[in-house]
Amino acid sequence: MVERTPTTILGIESSCDETAAAVVRDGREILSSVIVSQVEAHAVYGGVVPEIAGRSHLDAIGPTVDGALAEAGLALDDLSGLAVTTRPGLVGSLLVGTSYAKGLAYSRGLPLVGVHHIEAHVYAAAMDLATPPWPCLALVVSGGHTALYRADSPLSLTPLAATLDDAAGEAFDKVAWMLGTSYPGGPSIARLAREGDASAIQFPRYRPKGGGVGFSFSGLKTAVLYHLRGGDALAPTPAPEEIGNRADVAASFEQAVVDALVDNTLRAAQAENLDNILVAGGVAANRRLRQVLGERAGGQGRRTHFPPPEYCTDNAVMIAGLGHHLLAAGQLADLELDVRPN
Ligand code: KG4
Ligand code: ZN
Repeated sequence: MVERTPTTILGIESSCDETAAAVVRDGREILSSVIVSQVEAHAVYGGVVPEIAGRSHLDAIGPTVDGALAEAGLALDDLSGLAVTTRPGLVGSLLVGTSYAKGLAYSRGLPLVGVHHIEAHVYAAAMDLATPPWPCLALVVSGGHTALYRADSPLSLTPLAATLDDAAGEAFDKVAWMLGTSYPGGPSIARLAREGDASAIQFPRYRPKGGGVGFSFSGLKTAVLYHLRGGDALAPTPAPEEIGNRADVAASFEQAVVDALVDNTLRAAQAENLDNILVAGGVAANRRLRQVLGERAGGQGRRTHFPPPEYCTDNAVMIAGLGHHLLAAGQLADLELDVRPN
């Protein structure tokens, strides 16, 4: 996976609610990683508020980049290039990182590459592997995406299936709101689920018609809501402290998400005849998903690779890492580089 020309790349990520910068050598060796999270600013709303995100990135971007350089013990002139997330994400958030990176590239004469956030998430799962996993199947499960890709190289993803509605992480965040656990919902639901019985409630698992591959989580979210209302869709939603079996609801919900992710991933792996499976994005930090997918894929002779938990959620290590491959492939951006939110 290491290209011949050595590189030292500063990566910048600001697509959603994390301002991050990192320095990575040759696409693999992490020299620094700084992540400034806005979780507290958004927690009261139970989700990311774009206006707050944009303003927070503006405040954080300078110190975050300076922090990543200081942690690596490097100056801008020691770098081979800059990599920045340009797509997809919140437009105001993407613009902060991209404008900052363009300014640095112009003032220091550094090469600049624009990185696709999803490709970078997938790369995070491959970064520490001694043997390149390509071609492989990639499951991306985050707050904004739930999709399967065929990955023939770090820069070549072919979409196979995506969610019809909510992303898996979004479902975790919404159910956390219903159960009154903290934001972001993934970690807080997973913690509560450990005390519950995953088989207590049979929530629905979406299966695409005709046995194909696909995801949908809005029906599951509604099923949780109706369960909390005692099966009466028109009844008021109880306050979290009035819910008697919160841990069982959390565990049964988590199990339903994991089953849907694992079933579809294994069907796609079989259809595409791929033995290596990369899992990336915030929900890849989920322990039950790691365990169930690892066991069931292993039973079929397939290998699963997850990033270390700290590189599942948004970070700039994955941006700088993939930036190495873009630079090596000569895919340079100029100062016209623009963001693409969708
Ligand atoms: O990749 P990410 O940091 O941001 C996006 O690009 O969306 O993913 C954030 C999502 C949130 O929805 C969060 O609830 C979920 O990942 N998440 C988890 C866990 N940790 C984070 N979901 C389930 N289990 C976890 N342990
Ligand atoms: Zn992400």
